[in-house]
Amino acid sequence: MSTTKRIRLPHPFPADVDLTGRRTVVTGGGSGLGLVTVRTLARLGAAVVVGVRDVPRAQRAIQQAVSDDEIPADRIRVARLDLLDLDSVRAFGATASESALDLLVLNAGISSVPLRHDRNGIESQFATNHLGHFALTGCVLDALGHGTDPRVVTVSSALYTRARLDLTDLSDSQHYSPGGAYNRSKLANVLFAVELQHRLRDSGSPIRSFAAHPGMARTPLHATYPSAATRAVTALVARAIGREPEPADVGVLAAALSPDVSTDRFWGPTGSRSAPDALGVPFAPVAADRSRRVALWETSARLTDVRVLDVPA
Ligand SMILES: NC(=O)c1ccc[n+]([C@@H]2O[C@H](COP(=O)([O-])OP(=O)(O)OC[C@H]3O[C@@H](n4cnc5c(N)ncnc54)[C@H](OP(=O)(O)O)[C@@H]3O)[C@@H](O)[C@H]2O)c1
Repeated sequence: MSTTKRIRLPHPFPADVDLTGRRTVVTGGGSGLGLVTVRTLARLGAAVVVGVRDVPRAQRAIQQAVSDDEIPADRIRVARLDLLDLDSVRAFGATASESALDLLVLNAGISSVPLRHDRNGIESQFATNHLGHFALTGCVLDALGHGTDPRVVTVSSALYTRARLDLTDLSDSQHYSPGGAYNRSKLANVLFAVELQHRLRDSGSPIRSFAAHPGMARTPLHATYPSAATRAVTALVARAIGREPEPADVGVLAAALSPDVSTDRFWGPTGSRSAPDALGVPFAPVAADRSRRVALWETSARLTDVRVLDVPA
């Protein structure tokens, strides 16, 4: 297959997909895109474990979202997960890997928030969006290895191409840009997804790693920007060019469910605002830099103390 070719799929997955008997995990599945993913997986028959910080709020949102679909209540289980807290990630990982796992969707995220740090002093967007997901993946990798067509889907952003990633300054103690830190975390998502695929393939694992994005979506993500002006401009842009969460999620759903997706493309929506196709485009050159990917992997393993798929030195 050409590495420059775009792949366009009018349907993110075949109409007759039956996920009965499959186990899936979605982080941040209580709102926005994650909620669409959870609802779709459960409607197709999968059991879904949803990881969120605010369990009652997510339960209410999910109950409301699935009430019309006649989905059995016990198909979706909400468990507490705080990606900024590695103890919480390990506990959730243990719950998620109680038996074989078929799909892990790394969707949760925060964007452009005021400066905060995790317990190691790492800036919170990098720690939440990337490090927490890196650790969770390591915790559930064995369970995924026993799954059917097992996949990891990392939800990033097209903004990753604008990011700078300096692994020697992840605390941002000198200078903090909320938007720059978000872009950095989304670049880390892409580098992680590509490197994970590389290591899985080299180790002979059946698991595949995909990266996807929603374009601009009208979700609660944009309500947390510290600057009122940024919030107002983003709300205008979202109204003008953004999609509702359901159509915006087609790239994630294609990466999770389609037989026609490849791991060397970045999957997102294209075309119609209300009924887009899924489009897989080649990654930007920054994702091809192996030394950068390895440096991120090793830093992430050190900061989380999660060591899987190590490459011999
Ligand atoms: N919306 C867009 O335009 C856009 C564009 C590009 C990429 N994305 C990406 O799409 C993904 C989903 O975002 P969204 O737009 O659907 O926003 P959202 O509705 O705000 O969803 C984000 C979810 O992440 C969860 N979350 C936040 N911090 C967490 C933590 N520490 N531990 C566990 N869960 C946490 C939140 O739930 P709790 O607060 O209950 O924990 C929330 O449900 C994100 O990765 C985002 O970067 C979105």
